[in-house]
Amino acid sequence: MDMQRIPARDGDYNLKNYDKMRDSFSWDEVKKNFSWNETGKVNIAYEAIDRHAENPDKKDKVALLYSSPDREEQLTFDDLSKKSNQFANVLKKYNVKKGDRVFLFLPRSPEFYASFFGILKTGAVAGPLFEAFMEQAVRDRLQDSEARMLITTPELLERVPQEDLPDLENIVLVGDHNESSDKYIDYHKEMSDASTDFDIEWVDLEDGMVIHYTSGSTGKPKGVYHVHNAMVQHYATAEWVIDLKEDDVYWCTADPGWVTGTSYGVFAPWLHGVTNVIRGGRFSPDDWYGTLDKHNVTVWYTAPTALRKLVSAGEDVVKKYDLSSLRHIMSVGEPLNPEVITWGLKAFDLRIHDTWWMTETGAMLIVNFPSEEIRPGSMGKPIPGVDAAIVDNEGNELPPNQMGNLAIKKGWPSMMRHIWKRPEKFQSYFINEWYVSGDSAYKDEDGYFWFQGRLDDVINTSGERVGPFEVESKLIEHPAVSEAGVIGKPDPERGEIIKAFITLNEGYEDTPELLEDIRKFVKTGLSAHSAPRELEVKDSIPKTRSGKIMRRLLKSWELGLPTGDTSTLEE
Ligand code: WT7
Repeated sequence: MDMQRIPARDGDYNLKNYDKMRDSFSWDEVKKNFSWNETGKVNIAYEAIDRHAENPDKKDKVALLYSSPDREEQLTFDDLSKKSNQFANVLKKYNVKKGDRVFLFLPRSPEFYASFFGILKTGAVAGPLFEAFMEQAVRDRLQDSEARMLITTPELLERVPQEDLPDLENIVLVGDHNESSDKYIDYHKEMSDASTDFDIEWVDLEDGMVIHYTSGSTGKPKGVYHVHNAMVQHYATAEWVIDLKEDDVYWCTADPGWVTGTSYGVFAPWLHGVTNVIRGGRFSPDDWYGTLDKHNVTVWYTAPTALRKLVSAGEDVVKKYDLSSLRHIMSVGEPLNPEVITWGLKAFDLRIHDTWWMTETGAMLIVNFPSEEIRPGSMGKPIPGVDAAIVDNEGNELPPNQMGNLAIKKGWPSMMRHIWKRPEKFQSYFINEWYVSGDSAYKDEDGYFWFQGRLDDVINTSGERVGPFEVESKLIEHPAVSEAGVIGKPDPERGEIIKAFITLNEGYEDTPELLEDIRKFVKTGLSAHSAPRELEVKDSIPKTRSGKIMRRLLKSWELGLPTGDTSTLEE
């Protein structure tokens, strides 16, 4: 445990003294930064967009610096305010009301951000879907949320199983199309007819804002429900952890289909009125370094899986670009390997700051601050206003250096408020006053937290969270597959890969062609990132007597580890 430590560098950081801030902290101080603290009128879209558009010094500042390989566009706060007003008017015309669920299934594009804030301005709850989702993934989410309206493109429309979605009244299409029924709304036509003025719908801090679906170890993906109050923590962490300043050019690489892409892809920078880079298209080292260089990005929030790919791409690629504007880097989603931090010191002459949080937590909770020492391999320390601990299964706090459940004291501002329509699921996260994360970790004597692994069967592949049950369910829909058990298998680049064990139905043979066909079936039916990279045919899948697949046992077999207690194994 005696590892190299990386001291903080001198700098004029927003959070200068962590211990002092923690001791004297009150969330009421943070609330003073919002206009609702005086007016009582709440809406995150107002705080992130309109407040700046109403400010003569801010309105013409670039809010969105969008680029993709085939498109470039800049929107000021004033532009974004008007466009989101227009879209809110379109939604209102089609009767969208406060609390309705309106989903977005769109590539990262200026239209995404205008419509996202348009939704929030009507008081509806926005549900962003990752553009790589295939039919099953789209069906599960739209069915469960009972979404009334969807915004998508004519190309992605093919993956929307409308016959299974009785609640879906209208679909807004962004792009040229030949649909003529009343169900379809043409984005560009309606936008050009709509007024740029809109009376924003004021909401309560506890009213719904965004639903993000995420996977657990059992059951379908669950709708994690966040409320407007989360802005308090988005704002605070953008100040202390992202260290945002007025003139920063900020880039968060996450897609808005995931929580990082909303909490830190739009809310955090825009609550501070900072210029935000959005890059569309696919990842490649040249594309990403090129984006940092071209836009003179100063603050960058990314993920270990991408950083590991940059490491493999080698130093010659970095040297082609001028990255001298960059002053601060953060990472989230998976353990940040100490080697990557060491590489970052060489490649960028900067420390990479790991941050830990989850879809359910809505915002960062355990982080490395720019003004604090980094202990490579550690996720850092809890932010001011948040109590984190390691607890046993009864909720008792454990002493330092003992491994257990990573838990957070209930009640931080951005905590999910429920799991959509599943109160028992929501309750299952808590032991007494503790929110229990599902991660195991320990805390050292100085209060740094060290991630050890997941305690459930949830898989983290390239930073994307995959529930084994979803993949198993899809696999057994294939005519050849009888039973399936899915695990995460350690992988140096992707963290984990998905490995599936299957049994075959009568009449099918274990051939490479069949296995490839099964893989493709998951890839095109569910999503590319959930398709098993490895498939192995077995004579049987181990199950408990109550019929639960024993993934733990599959994993031990795969890794050649002792199998532990198998007393519940079916005969
Ligand atoms: C799970 C949450 C909202 C952040 C993006 C992922 C893992 C997250 C770290 C980290 C080690 C991490 C945990 C967590 N995770 N950050 N810094 N070090 N593991 O959100 O998809 O809800 O996944 O990602 O296992 O529970 P998510």
